[in-house]
Amino acid sequence: MATQPEKARYLQHLARVRASYDAAMDVAGADTAVVFSGALRYAFRDDHAYPFQVNAHFAWWLPVTDVPDSYVIYRAGETPILVYCLPDDFWHLPPAKPDPYWADAFDVRIVSQPEDARSHMPPQSRAPIFIGEAQTKAQALGLERLNPRAALHYLDNARTAKTDYELDRMREASHIAARAHTAAAEAFAAGDNSEYAIHQAYLSAIDYIDADLPYPSIVGLNEHGAVLHYQARDRKAPEVSRSFLIDAGAQSAGYASDITRTYSAEDGLFADLIAGMDELQQAVCGQVVAGADYRELHVDTHARLAQLLTDSRVGKGSAEALIESGITRAILPHGLGHYLGLQVHDVGGHIADDKGTPTERPDSDPALRLTRPLSDNEVVTIEPGLYIIDSLLDAVRNSEHKDLLDWNAIEALRPFGGIRIEDNVRINGDTPENLTRNAFARL
Ligand code: GLY
Ligand code: MN
Ligand code: MN
Repeated sequence: MATQPEKARYLQHLARVRASYDAAMDVAGADTAVVFSGALRYAFRDDHAYPFQVNAHFAWWLPVTDVPDSYVIYRAGETPILVYCLPDDFWHLPPAKPDPYWADAFDVRIVSQPEDARSHMPPQSRAPIFIGEAQTKAQALGLERLNPRAALHYLDNARTAKTDYELDRMREASHIAARAHTAAAEAFAAGDNSEYAIHQAYLSAIDYIDADLPYPSIVGLNEHGAVLHYQARDRKAPEVSRSFLIDAGAQSAGYASDITRTYSAEDGLFADLIAGMDELQQAVCGQVVAGADYRELHVDTHARLAQLLTDSRVGKGSAEALIESGITRAILPHGLGHYLGLQVHDVGGHIADDKGTPTERPDSDPALRLTRPLSDNEVVTIEPGLYIIDSLLDAVRNSEHKDLLDWNAIEALRPFGGIRIEDNVRINGDTPENLTRNAFARL
């Protein structure tokens, strides 16, 4: 699916992964780490497996996301061993053979049964650690030190800053998703497509099936745009398609993009608010600079949203009053965004350092996923929103603050659902790289 990165970039990346493991093993007092790709999970009393989801720690080592029962066994300073499970199983298509572009960096040992991995453990390893999810003791190769916190904190922190290889993958993931978003926007613009049909247009534009997506897409027409994690796909088109919110990504070697766009079929207040939110979102993207504290960007977003509500006359009274009364948080109840990488909500957002010192979460926004200052080569999402969510707005309507909103405007907006605009942005000194806008521009 993806163009292969230059081998040199991958090798540079691998050197960084090895160095991170050297240090993580050091803090854990180990000389060997075993990183498991993961095992299939089966439905209760059934022989059907859920879609395989690779352990991100495994995918950090090598661009393999679809091979269960495999292990990287790394002993400090030595060539990592890759135990690669190619089952002797005529019922299923076996995984692809290891690709020399990355496999050359490993001592590859093909096994046909998961339990054979154990014989590849280096003898006399000192206090080896296991990183991953073992459903059974055998999957942990008999190791007892599973996921020690000190090592995980070190690795989580190390994974926040991306290597050149990883940034290439993430640019690619944005590029693939931008193509699919364009197809989805066209399917909406046709006017008579259902959510299901638009979703299919997204997938087929990039030859995806659902299981290829980094997370289940959110594809909502009209009021459904206000359901934050809307998971249905109406098979029937609505009578009138007024608005469309799509939050959907793509991936390259396991690295995700996470992109949201909102469209209006008609001019008017909702379309004006989309334009206002786009301007707001771009202003916040411009603040994604090294040293900026993401908590402050989140708070600043509420200030900008309050101003937009006032300027558009949805809000009455001052911008400050809209914030202090909690109204901006009823209209935008989620966080500004999160780290992005091998995991869509990537790790490390709540620790200040490689020791795992927790960062403080703002009292006003305890669910914010990213609560630390930003550093070069981290990738974050910036995803402000504006929604008409009845349960939250009813609480405002029934409160002493009810006069701070123009309820006629809220009524007019309700059939349009909501707005979210989400880009993926790399921290690069004081000139942020917007992977998503660049990807759309390159189409
Ligand atoms: N698509 C999940 C998120 O935006 O966080
Ligand atoms: Mn998203
Ligand atoms: Mn997101």
